[in-house]
Amino acid sequence: MTKAVRVHQVGGPEVLTYEDIDLPAPGPGEVRLRQHAIGLNYIDTYFRTGLYKAPGLPFIAGNEASGEVVAVGPGVTNFHPGDRAAYYFNLGGYATERNIPADKLVKLPDHITHEQAAVLMLKGLTVYYLLFKTFKVEPGHRVLIHAAAGGIGLLACQWAKALGATVIGTVGTKEKADLALSNGCDHVILYREENFVERVKQISRGELCDVVYDGVGKDTFPGSLSCLKKRGLFVSFGNASGPVPPFQLAELNNNGSLFATRPKLNDYVGTRHELIEGADALFAAVLNGTLHVPIHHAYALKDAVKAHRDLEARVTTGASVLKP
Ligand SMILES: NC(=O)c1ccc[n+]([C@@H]2O[C@H](COP(=O)([O-])OP(=O)(O)OC[C@H]3O[C@@H](n4cnc5c(N)ncnc54)[C@H](OP(=O)(O)O)[C@@H]3O)[C@@H](O)[C@H]2O)c1
Repeated sequence: MTKAVRVHQVGGPEVLTYEDIDLPAPGPGEVRLRQHAIGLNYIDTYFRTGLYKAPGLPFIAGNEASGEVVAVGPGVTNFHPGDRAAYYFNLGGYATERNIPADKLVKLPDHITHEQAAVLMLKGLTVYYLLFKTFKVEPGHRVLIHAAAGGIGLLACQWAKALGATVIGTVGTKEKADLALSNGCDHVILYREENFVERVKQISRGELCDVVYDGVGKDTFPGSLSCLKKRGLFVSFGNASGPVPPFQLAELNNNGSLFATRPKLNDYVGTRHELIEGADALFAAVLNGTLHVPIHHAYALKDAVKAHRDLEARVTTGASVLKP
């Protein structure tokens, strides 16, 4: 029997219900995947609470996983039973098996484990587009990365450093500070104790940052704008503390003719070509040692409630996977 974690009513972590589901044979263009590792993402909590709307109820939570093809539907020619493959895709991820459109899957090279792939497809691809497409990080840039010891954060620090940037990270605890420093951060700021805007001014000797990557949202706004040099870019890519409140465009003018964007993965890595290009870049970065996939926690799929509690309580570091 296929097991899945479903949400029947949006709410707290307790609404995640581990139960049996009926899984039909894969339809035209679909592949059936037996999943070996499932990525835990902050976005999973937004769907669970209703901040992001699922198409309907109940829905299966989860947006990223890796596994083995066990069957293919009519018309699928590029995947075969036994292939190792991974994906990011809106919902349906927290399950022992699932059907998924074949064009959303990427084949795994031998050097990538299922656990790594279940981190790279959503978190890794996000870091890829943020650092290479939304703003092209180059040697000499100074970048500020909020929540630097998180799943996205550690990968972003590693890659931004490898690209030659000076990396400033904000973190919630001393332990997270040490972790960020050993993953590419040049400077860390304990933003629950220190004024991060003042610290960025000190660290940069008043020169501020070229770009701020902000997945924290409400609590770091509008401070993030004050960390940018003239014509710098504010990248607001998430809401771990709540959404950024509405603001006046004039604030961009007042802070030095800033640019601001609110990007999402699907608009950067939405086509088949973009997906393959991004996945290839990630797999190569793991192979050549640029990226060390920071898998710090593993939970049984049936313990998804605890995984969400830990993520929202800020006790996780790096990335976490759920094991079916
Ligand atoms: N736009 C996109 O394309 C896209 C794609 C993927 C992910 N994201 C966003 O990227 C961000 C990071 O995702 P992730 O899955 O890697 O999560 P994560 O960073 O591992 O976890 C969230 C971290 O945010 C920090 N945080 C600050 N204020 C918080 C609060 N009030 N409550 C909870 N956490 C708080 C915590 O770190 P400290 O304790 O160090 O503060 C926490 O560990 C999320 O906002 C997510 O939505 C966006």
